[in-house]
Amino acid sequence: MSEETGIRRGLTDYGDKDFSQYLRSSFARSMGLSKEMLRKPIVGIAMTPSGFNNCHRNMPELVEAVSRGVLAAGALPVAFPTISLGEVFLNPTSMVYRNLMSMDTEEMVRAQPMDSVVLIGGCDKTVPAQLMGAASANIPAVQLVTGPMMTGRHRGERLGACTDCRRFWGKYRAGEVEREEIDQVEGRLATTAGTCAVMGTASTMACIAETLGMALPGSAAIPAVHADRLVAAEYSGRTAVDLITTPRLPSEIITERSVENAFRMLMAVSGSTNAIIHLTAVAGRLGIRISDTRLNQISDETPVLVDLKPVGDGYMEDFFAAGGVGAVLREIRHLLHLDTVDVTGTRLGDRLEPEMEWVDRRVIRAFDTPVSIQGGLIVLRGNLAPDGAIFKRAAATPELFETEGRAIVFDGLEDLAKRVDDPDLDINANDIMVLKGAGPIAAGMPEAGYLPIPKKLARQGVKDMVRISDARMSGTAFGAIVLHIAPEAAVGGPLAAVRSGDRIRLSVRAKTIELLVSDAEIAERLADFSAPPAHTRGFRALYDRTVLQAPDGCDFDFLTHSGAPRK
Ligand code: FES
Repeated sequence: MSEETGIRRGLTDYGDKDFSQYLRSSFARSMGLSKEMLRKPIVGIAMTPSGFNNCHRNMPELVEAVSRGVLAAGALPVAFPTISLGEVFLNPTSMVYRNLMSMDTEEMVRAQPMDSVVLIGGCDKTVPAQLMGAASANIPAVQLVTGPMMTGRHRGERLGACTDCRRFWGKYRAGEVEREEIDQVEGRLATTAGTCAVMGTASTMACIAETLGMALPGSAAIPAVHADRLVAAEYSGRTAVDLITTPRLPSEIITERSVENAFRMLMAVSGSTNAIIHLTAVAGRLGIRISDTRLNQISDETPVLVDLKPVGDGYMEDFFAAGGVGAVLREIRHLLHLDTVDVTGTRLGDRLEPEMEWVDRRVIRAFDTPVSIQGGLIVLRGNLAPDGAIFKRAAATPELFETEGRAIVFDGLEDLAKRVDDPDLDINANDIMVLKGAGPIAAGMPEAGYLPIPKKLARQGVKDMVRISDARMSGTAFGAIVLHIAPEAAVGGPLAAVRSGDRIRLSVRAKTIELLVSDAEIAERLADFSAPPAHTRGFRALYDRTVLQAPDGCDFDFLTHSGAPRK
């Protein structure tokens, strides 16, 4: 082993190498570590516990289990913190801080003396941030997720955050549920440690991490409170030690072919729209780009096989018991690149060789009897979204797939909150709700694309309408919702030109979103456009100056592979 391993790696520079090493060893020993332990290679454990992150409540026992695996394999585990992003505790939205966490992860992994690292995350933005950081730092890394929550119970039915949060809130807005019951439900939606219990963003990213090969086979869906989650943690520690003697870098695991496989998984599980942004950002750190055309081709070829909320019926605990990611991969095996490798060094084709003993076909369908014959997500183009927009067809009402309607425009989140429930709002169920000013630069791209159905329509029984915006949508939400319109309104995209009363046409068949206003009229309206004021100091100023649009994963320009400045 070279002398640059373990505690001797990357010495602090005082201009005297021996002194640097002597000083570091002296301080390391103050932590009660013997000389023998300090001679071992080091596995860093990037831990992300926080009192503001309920999804990471099981972090201490995961760190302990990873440490056990590292020690048993002969290396020294050293845990260190990075920032943690608890989805519902961040203002204006966690998306603003994903890149900050990725920078924290990348720099701490690179700057501190570790030979490999286990990254423990779970909540929506944490796994993307860790994968982005690992890809850029490019030292051997294993992703471990905290795992999904178990469901709660309410009057005989199972509840899981956060699809059922939205379902009950919708009923409450429509007057079908009283205040007393909604208060009871509040305490029954999220009852254990772990991430949201449905195929939302966190679970989708866990499936993607496993499919990319960055997380151990079989580890994505294990519930947070299940004993197997700790076993997976122990094995993640062991694997990180193996990666020191047989290095496999993130850049060898995250390749164009494994990214395509991950997009296939996203379609087959009908995963979160957010995962498109995150996977694009992870791939972008290594200079990999999957075109819209290819993405739509993957979507058209890959059926939805998983019957889970928010699209179907089950919860992540069912997905785990049914066979998890391994069962889905076997069903779409003929569509996958089988020569990709995972952190254990196993070829995907070899991993999928042994058949599974049993798969619960109520939850994970066979390829020939899918939940739906095409993937859940598509990219739309058109004069309203020249650089693209996303539509989750699997979660939308099919009757709305081909819609032409009158635009009812809300100019930002404040305007939406002020007017959406106004009894005098001129709106009917055939209209198209439009929200602008909620893109990456304008508002940090909040999950506001799931515009609430105006109360007066909800009370008439309207459950879905076409809603379009430059915002994102929670992975646990559903509806005929066009998201991520790019360029966003705040940079003068055509969305900025839409006025109430204009006609808009959505065609899922043609994969288009069109503003039925002449090019000349759009240009004339945009001539008056002026950008909103940017932040002038601190991280938010850096964010405003450098964040890219959704088709580039909303990464910062200087963090991408090329580092080229934003145009
Ligand atoms: Fe953390 Fe949903 S709030 S995963």
